[in-house]
Amino acid sequence: MFSCIITRLGRKNVLKRGNVNTENKIIDFDLTQAKSKSRFAGMWRMMSGYRLRYFGAIMLQGASTVCKTSVYLLLAWFIDDWLTQPKPAMPIWNIALFFILLALGEGFFSFGANTIANHAAEKLAKRLRDNLYDQIQRLPFSWHAQTDTGDLIQRATSDIDAVRLLFSTEAIGIGRIVFLFVVNFVAIYRIHPALARTTLIILPLILVVAVFFFRYIGKKYEIYQNQDAVLSTTLQENLTGVRVVKAFARQDYETQKFERENWKKYLLGRNLLFSEALFWPSTDLLCGIQMAISFLTGAYYTIDGLVSLGDFVAFLALIIWVIWPIRNMGRLIVQTSRAFISFQRIMEIFSTDKEPLEQGSIMPEGEPKGQITFEQVGFEYQPGKKVLENISFSVQPGQSVAILGSTGSGKTTLFNLLPRFYEYTEGSIRLDNNPLEQIPRSYLRRHIGIIEQEPFLFSRTIAENIAYGAGREVSRDEIEQAAKAAAIHESILAFEKGYDTMVGERGVTLSGGQKQRVAIARTLLKNPRILIMDDATSSVDTDTEAEIRASLQSLMENRTTFIITHRVQSSMNADLILVMDQGRIVQSGTHQELSEQDGLYRKIFRIQTQIEEELAQELSNE
Ligand SMILES: Nc1ncnc2c1ncn2[C@@H]1O[C@H](COP(=O)(O)OP(=O)(O)O)[C@@H](O)[C@H]1O
Ligand SMILES: [Mg+2]
Repeated sequence: MFSCIITRLGRKNVLKRGNVNTENKIIDFDLTQAKSKSRFAGMWRMMSGYRLRYFGAIMLQGASTVCKTSVYLLLAWFIDDWLTQPKPAMPIWNIALFFILLALGEGFFSFGANTIANHAAEKLAKRLRDNLYDQIQRLPFSWHAQTDTGDLIQRATSDIDAVRLLFSTEAIGIGRIVFLFVVNFVAIYRIHPALARTTLIILPLILVVAVFFFRYIGKKYEIYQNQDAVLSTTLQENLTGVRVVKAFARQDYETQKFERENWKKYLLGRNLLFSEALFWPSTDLLCGIQMAISFLTGAYYTIDGLVSLGDFVAFLALIIWVIWPIRNMGRLIVQTSRAFISFQRIMEIFSTDKEPLEQGSIMPEGEPKGQITFEQVGFEYQPGKKVLENISFSVQPGQSVAILGSTGSGKTTLFNLLPRFYEYTEGSIRLDNNPLEQIPRSYLRRHIGIIEQEPFLFSRTIAENIAYGAGREVSRDEIEQAAKAAAIHESILAFEKGYDTMVGERGVTLSGGQKQRVAIARTLLKNPRILIMDDATSSVDTDTEAEIRASLQSLMENRTTFIITHRVQSSMNADLILVMDQGRIVQSGTHQELSEQDGLYRKIFRIQTQIEEELAQELSNE
């Protein structure tokens, strides 16, 4: 993930200078504007551009409800007036037609409301996804280092879906419920106010029960979602690390680990569903009591002649449509609360600011020359734990520097500071005599090329992978030139589809050395003034290393180059060699100087040449 982000950042910076949200038409709303302590306020802001549509949808839903209620009122009129008239004023066909029209109206308006809401919901979900993707790409490294990929995927998929559901069903569902209640309640009230009042005896209690569930289930749902994220992370790690799993024959262990987490999810899910299921029977009882009270009162009123028979029949239907919304209010509140929790989980990703790529008071014109000075630089990832201390050295444009040191000595960290992936905490770094912290990150990343220890290639064609770094349209000819310079051209031609060969999961698997050289070609095409090679040859055999080293020679010309390595052979020709140990530079100088000094360098040099001589000896003896 780390490496993929470096490459991605590199490209984005070249393509789009400035804020993507203003230039990129795809993102129609900047979600950082929806940051708010209140979820409701945040959601409201996020709906920008769709509020009127929702208003329209809810109104349509209301019209549909009025049609529904009118059916019962028509029924009452039919019983009371039409049936009792000796000579009906209207033929029965007309009345039948009214019933049909009302049913059609109910369906038509409801269809309209749903269509508008669904359309808007998809658009809003798209808005969330686009924003999220953009945000994730632009967050600083320190954020990515602390975040589980699985959890992120969870937020980007299932949480967004919960919000989508809110907008497609629940948002107009609320409209439907409110309208159903109000319209039917008013209809009953017009039949007889006292009848309407009987419905208010138990209903508030049902609402209280519903709100209780809102709180209770909300918490459970959050725990369930978190466990779901754990499961996603487990799966994702297993997939990424499938080679390790197989190599160590740890399938059983991994399966058990997954089963354990899956079992937890199952228990939480069961618990959640059980709690949700409890809601219906517990409100069933209350609803039953409510119906009994209303029916009885209605019956007495009818017997006493206070209410006509037709009105009583209508009332029997209307009362159901007063209770129904209140009951469903509970379900809706539960679902809405889920969506709000999901929305909050999504918005958490926006709580960290994007890396300000353009920030800085100095914008150098053209390319940098490549003079770099470190002065007593210190750095810590976490406060109090120094990873780099007192680093001082200076490089002239076009020179090469080799950094030698054991794993964990801080070599990668040191070069994470140059493109400002992390900000140094002490001392100063200067590029062409400008303080680094004043130069915009986008400029630095445009002109610094990094070849990583384990380069990441996308599941695209080889040609696309090579062209990736350039950040512009490049011709096939340019791609081939770069590949030739990186000594990979012949190997690519050996593939059946040549440059159009797919890399990765759906295509060929490149060897470590081949990947490395594709990455070198990619960087060649980017043509950076400053080049960092982080242990670029550590994973390949000596022969391949020699080949890569040769291809690197062409890459290094006229560039300030940093070679991080643990092989003395790779560092011998450098203008300056730095030997690092535990976050400090313990020796510095040319190969000549350092081999004459008593120290770490000479020790490493002796051991490595000795090993190689023995190896050569053995080979010649065979
Ligand atoms: N993102 C990080 N957060 C906290 N500590 C880190 C991080 N990356 C590296 N470190 C620590 O910094 C030290 C130097 O690491 P690194 O620069 O990767 O060494 P090298 O590249 O020389 O092998 C190590 O102790 C490592 O554990
Ligand atoms: Mg490293």
